[in-house]
Amino acid sequence: MKLCPPKEVILINIIQFFLLLVFHSSCHPLTRITPSQPLKDGDVLLSDGGTVALGFFSPSNNSRRRYVGIWYNRSSKPTVFWVANRQNPLYDTSAVLSIDTLGNIVLVHNDSHLNRTSTIWSSNVSTIPSFTHTFAKLQDTGNLVLISDEGRPKVLWQSFDYPGDTMVAFMKMGVDRKTGFNWSLTSWKSPDDPGLGDATYIIDPKGYAQIFVYKNGTPFWRIGSWTGERWSGVAQMTLYFIFNITHVDNASEVSYITRVMDPSLFLRMVLDNTGHVTRYVWQANENRWLQIWYGPTENCDHYGWCGSNSNCDPYNGGKFECICLPGFEPTNLAEWNMRNGSSGCVRKKNVSTCQSGEGFVKVTRVKVPNTSKASVDESESMSLKRCEGKCLKDCSCVAYTNVDDVKQSGCLTWHADMEDIRTFENVGQDLYVRVDAHELAKHERKHYGSLGKKGMGTLIVISIFLIAFMVITFVYWFVKNKNQARRMGKTDLFDGKNDSNLTLFDLKNLVEATNNFSDTNMLGKGGFGSVYKGLLKDGMEIAIKRLSKYSGQGIEEFRNEVTLIAKLQHRNLVRILGCCVDGDEKMLIYEYLPNKGLDSFIFDQEKKLQLDWRKRFDVICGVARGILYLHHDSRLRIIHRDLKASNILLDSAMNPKIADFGMARIFGEDQIEANTNRVVGTYGYMSPEYAMEGIFSIKSDTYSFGILLLEIVTSKKNSGHYDDISSTLVGHIWNLWRESRAMDIVDPSLRGETCPKHEVLKCIQIGLLCVQEYATDRPTMLEVVSMLDNESTLAPPKQPAFLFKRTNFDCSDPSNGEGVNSINEISTTVVEAR
Ligand SMILES: *[C@@H]1O[C@H](CO)[C@@H](O)[C@H](O)[C@H]1NC(C)=O
Ligand SMILES: *[C@@H]1O[C@H](CO)[C@@H](O)[C@H](O)[C@H]1NC(C)=O
Ligand SMILES: *[C@@H]1O[C@H](CO)[C@@H](O)[C@H](O)[C@H]1NC(C)=O
Ligand SMILES: *[C@@H]1O[C@H](CO)[C@@H](O)[C@H](O)[C@H]1NC(C)=O
Ligand SMILES: *[C@@H]1O[C@H](CO)[C@@H](O)[C@H](O)[C@H]1NC(C)=O
Ligand SMILES: *[C@@H]1O[C@H](CO)[C@@H](O)[C@H](O)[C@H]1NC(C)=O
Ligand SMILES: *[C@@H]1O[C@H](CO)[C@@H](O)[C@H](O)[C@H]1NC(C)=O
Ligand SMILES: *[C@@H]1O[C@H](CO)[C@@H](O)[C@H](O)[C@H]1NC(C)=O
Ligand SMILES: *[C@@H]1O[C@H](CO)[C@@H](O)[C@H](O)[C@H]1NC(C)=O
Ligand SMILES: *[C@@H]1O[C@H](CO)[C@@H](O)[C@H](O)[C@H]1NC(C)=O
Ligand SMILES: *[C@@H]1O[C@H](CO)[C@@H](O)[C@H](O)[C@H]1NC(C)=O
Repeated sequence: MKLCPPKEVILINIIQFFLLLVFHSSCHPLTRITPSQPLKDGDVLLSDGGTVALGFFSPSNNSRRRYVGIWYNRSSKPTVFWVANRQNPLYDTSAVLSIDTLGNIVLVHNDSHLNRTSTIWSSNVSTIPSFTHTFAKLQDTGNLVLISDEGRPKVLWQSFDYPGDTMVAFMKMGVDRKTGFNWSLTSWKSPDDPGLGDATYIIDPKGYAQIFVYKNGTPFWRIGSWTGERWSGVAQMTLYFIFNITHVDNASEVSYITRVMDPSLFLRMVLDNTGHVTRYVWQANENRWLQIWYGPTENCDHYGWCGSNSNCDPYNGGKFECICLPGFEPTNLAEWNMRNGSSGCVRKKNVSTCQSGEGFVKVTRVKVPNTSKASVDESESMSLKRCEGKCLKDCSCVAYTNVDDVKQSGCLTWHADMEDIRTFENVGQDLYVRVDAHELAKHERKHYGSLGKKGMGTLIVISIFLIAFMVITFVYWFVKNKNQARRMGKTDLFDGKNDSNLTLFDLKNLVEATNNFSDTNMLGKGGFGSVYKGLLKDGMEIAIKRLSKYSGQGIEEFRNEVTLIAKLQHRNLVRILGCCVDGDEKMLIYEYLPNKGLDSFIFDQEKKLQLDWRKRFDVICGVARGILYLHHDSRLRIIHRDLKASNILLDSAMNPKIADFGMARIFGEDQIEANTNRVVGTYGYMSPEYAMEGIFSIKSDTYSFGILLLEIVTSKKNSGHYDDISSTLVGHIWNLWRESRAMDIVDPSLRGETCPKHEVLKCIQIGLLCVQEYATDRPTMLEVVSMLDNESTLAPPKQPAFLFKRTNFDCSDPSNGEGVNSINEISTTVVEAR
């Protein structure tokens, strides 16, 4: 992309040459375009915050074409995300963007040879008040607005209503149901040509509204309908604390807006001419765009790949991915046997519907069929059971499911052929497909094994009793608990607006709860103090971290700190319940997790069997998301500094929870003066630049995560010896990886038939990418989460750090004094408040 006019153009306009030079040397940024102040080629209109700019540009190095566009001004190479005259390029630099006498914002070309001007592009607003009070302004979100200000400012026109190939945060996508006006994307013809391309991204409001990507007017990819938290055709929606989506579907419009939580993040989603969509976020600290999502990636994503009434399952163990829905058979068996599913499936011949004994067979974790002809009832009172009843009564109904997959409410029903279904690995809705009695019996037998119908009945009755009992017990416990808490002497830190639920505990109660901090109650000892198990009078179990006395913080600072940290809430972080300050004593009170640390599982011959591959993969993803949240939460940026297996606790459902995450912050700068000899971090998990030079960044956490990941996959400690005496676990894995034998090091208990080899190898590769020697080579946690979620090709890892064990390296060794000091010095940089 080129912002300044190309040489050829300048030469062509010899007459204006001198004039041009004047423009470019001044190149002053405007903040408004007014009738008396147009924008000339070479000038820019800047938003108030300077994040985005509008001006003239040429799309590629040699192009002589000039366009007016809006670009993101923070990146060294400006990224254009909106173009005014997409179809009408200029071939010289004599055009201006101005406000005309009708009050429109117009791009006017002045042809000096013919002595006449022509309008290249216009905002085309019809009814204009007084044009002298009209001006155009660029907002920091990237929206160019035309405002008429006669006492009360009124937006006459905005560029966000005419998106190009890019959706940025706060831009609307959708359709006005009344007028038919749509907010949609159209790809560029090519990276050099912003003209209207072949691909469009648009919401189709028919039936239950869904997003489509069309190529040359035919559906290419159905991104699908809204499920309450994501689009039915998109598996990945995990970055909720980076952006959120508000979805509106009412009588007047169906639309959605993506908003970023942190205004300093710039998010864009681009549709290219092949119909592929890529989402990027600007990584300010690395000065580059990070790709966080890309689609479609699989055959099964392509519209109608398996034809009608057929499900596309890419996880079918290498077998043909197209599978007829229950009660259907291939239309053309010969084609089907040649692995061509495009002709789809038809209902089995000897079956007639609407007879007694009919029922539904569940197809799990799918993208639900094309909803353009589906019936939808979004009422929240509609349960799955009622939806089933509704579908069963209606002979034309062939399948049903919930509308909202999160609240499990609403009713979607299909009444014709079902199109474009696929299976997902981890997400997806359950689709209930209507079958006759015969088929139903077949599936039930398959499902319930040898139990049979009678056995099932008994089992269901027993289950209902059990569940009822558990609910009653829970309600009793909950009510009792609530009442006691009030009598326990816990005080809320904040009266009134207590949004963190942080409690101030009495030292007296904690002394009682822990048997006066007896050794038998001690759960562990770490760099920052000891952890005790406590039992409150109300029967609640807690974990108490008694901080060593060197934190050097005042009481108020400590409380403020804890309050901030307690607001960090994520399902993969251990929850802080409160704190206790009494004289020199400072304590943090956490939820108690009976399952202890991940180390007690993966490094234990017996207990590691409880963690099969799926659970381990979930642990890896959970930890990655937890760290990502710490690195990217909008209030605080926290670098953990001491990630290791024993700092990952598991709850009863084996969900991972990161512990000790606020420590780096609580032990801030003051700690250095108070306790200069202590080294934070654990050998084996420390990145080379931290251990040797004391340089710490989010990439050091990436390194520790990589070690942790490799330990989870192999059930081996990085600090042990492998291969021969001199190699670490990482070195050993690296050697095997280069020989394409990485599976050899994987924990034997995982290597069974069910083990998805590609996923295990992908994890090892991600692990190796995380432990690369140079911090700049290592991915950020955002990239790690994206790699774990997506099926994309990964970069080949470079040689990791610490291939060979440094037998004489010891962080606390006084002979290494310089290293120790610098390690402590850098803890000042660990936390950046925002
Ligand atoms: C533009 O020029 C740069 C170097 O001058 C080159 O690396 C880049 O590939 C060129 N881009 C196009 C689209 O020709
Ligand atoms: C934005 O653009 C203006 C004018 O082109 C430039 O002076 C300014 O430095 C840019 N800001 C950033 C942050 O790049
Ligand atoms: C067009 O350009 C000529 C000479 O460069 C100038 O005299 C004239 O005023 C311009 N017209 C407009 C409408 O800007
Ligand atoms: C251009 O046209 C205008 C009137 O249409 C006239 O006044 C002016 O002299 C012309 N300029 C040139 C350079 O021919
Ligand atoms: C403005 O309207 C004219 C005709 O009414 C049309 O040719 C032109 O494309 C429109 N421009 C824009 C920017 O919509
Ligand atoms: C969407 O709007 C554009 C003009 O803004 C129009 O050309 C196009 O036909 C519309 N598409 C649909 C499906 O209504
Ligand atoms: C539909 O939602 C939009 C956006 O929230 C709102 O402005 C509009 O009034 C709603 N219309 C109806 C009929 O509820
Ligand atoms: C979505 O993010 C915006 C900040 O950009 C925030 O104002 C809004 O409350 C968020 N909505 C939800 C539902 O979290
Ligand atoms: C699959 O079969 C259809 C006819 O039903 C044919 O048009 C198509 O080309 C075939 N696809 C392949 C990949 O052979
Ligand atoms: C339909 O035909 C299949 C075999 O083609 C048979 O197994 C099944 O019992 C038949 N179903 C009914 C309802 O007759
Ligand atoms: C599926 O979606 C396409 C594109 O909107 C539509 O034309 C078609 O009628 C739909 N088919 C069914 C069976 O719903």
